[in-house]
Amino acid sequence: MNTGELIRVKDLQVFFHTDEGIVRAVDNVSFSVNRRETLGVLGESGCGKSVTARSLLNLIPRPRGRVHSGSIMLSKDDGTKVDILSLDPFGKEMGQIRGAEIAMIFQEPMTSLNPVYTVGQQIMEAVLLHQEVGKKVAREKAIEIMEKVGIASPQQAIDKYPHEFSGGMRQRAMIAIALSCNPRLLIADEPTTALDVTIESQILELLHELKAEMDMSILFITHDLGVIGEIADRVIVMYTGKIVESGSCVDIFYRPKHPYTKKLLESRPRIGQEGELSSIVGSVPSPYHLPPGCRFAPRCDFIMEKCRQEPPIFLVGPEHQAQCWLYEGGERVG
Ligand SMILES: Nc1ncnc2c1ncn2[C@@H]1O[C@H](COP(=O)(O)OP(=O)(O)OP(=O)(O)O)[C@@H](O)[C@H]1O
Ligand code: SF4
Ligand SMILES: [Mg+2]
Repeated sequence: MNTGELIRVKDLQVFFHTDEGIVRAVDNVSFSVNRRETLGVLGESGCGKSVTARSLLNLIPRPRGRVHSGSIMLSKDDGTKVDILSLDPFGKEMGQIRGAEIAMIFQEPMTSLNPVYTVGQQIMEAVLLHQEVGKKVAREKAIEIMEKVGIASPQQAIDKYPHEFSGGMRQRAMIAIALSCNPRLLIADEPTTALDVTIESQILELLHELKAEMDMSILFITHDLGVIGEIADRVIVMYTGKIVESGSCVDIFYRPKHPYTKKLLESRPRIGQEGELSSIVGSVPSPYHLPPGCRFAPRCDFIMEKCRQEPPIFLVGPEHQAQCWLYEGGERVG
């Protein structure tokens, strides 16, 4: 069984050139997703989670968004590797990778389904796009996948329109579309944010089961620590376009090193907790006016003279890294 790397992102920089200035949305980000693992991406709004995810599909909003540097190497089953960023975003090869190798559940589930087509038509369209089958077989496959994602009575549900589905069922339909071509990597961008907690836990459970059954990896994006704890094997924590900490789920929850991660954990609601929740002091800096040196410095309790310079990434455990001067004694890895 091959459990190696499926995708490796190296030194990725994606900037937006706007009238107000340059937004360094993703700034020198490196990480990998291994086969059959769930990698959680955690961070506050605007920290670059979705832009990172869209880069994996070569879907950077153009013309304002530009890749300034980096590579995204996808390892194929036949042992070859391809740099996604070297491909024409509108070309045939990229089209084949989207869906068949990497599929994405986008952040806006309610708007991602087309209201004028039935749910079945939309799942069938995805099947027809990537598999050489006729309409009859595509319909059978659509019913099969609807059953797999837990949509009740798929024989009838297939001919219903999105507005006839509940929020949770629409999210299951989105998952069905993404999974219709057996992708090897599923990117789920805040797929449960709009759902209530009971439905959220059902969807997380479903993704967990499907990952094992379909032999895939998941890149799961969220700003919710509780969700990360439920689903991720490893976690990367992003802040203002940078990865400030990465490690196993246990490292992040029980041995957090970066002051930002520690604050995130302190601010999370706990069962039985009463009164005000502690929140992180200060707000995320404007992307147009990022502080020099460490970007977390204005909110950090441990700030020191050295933090005027950008901190390197240090090894703080066997598979655990933090971008912070507090760990200067550790091996430098970035
Ligand atoms: N099309 C665009 N044009 C200009 N700036 C953009 C564009 N898309 C994203 N950005 C900027 O890039 C930065 C990263 O955005 P991104 O959408 O990746 O954040 P996010 O972490 O996904 O946030 P959220 O949790 O709110 O979804 C933000 O500062 C955002 O304003
Ligand atoms: S580098 Fe300095 S300011 Fe930044 S998180 Fe570490 S201690 Fe705080
Ligand atoms: Mg986002």
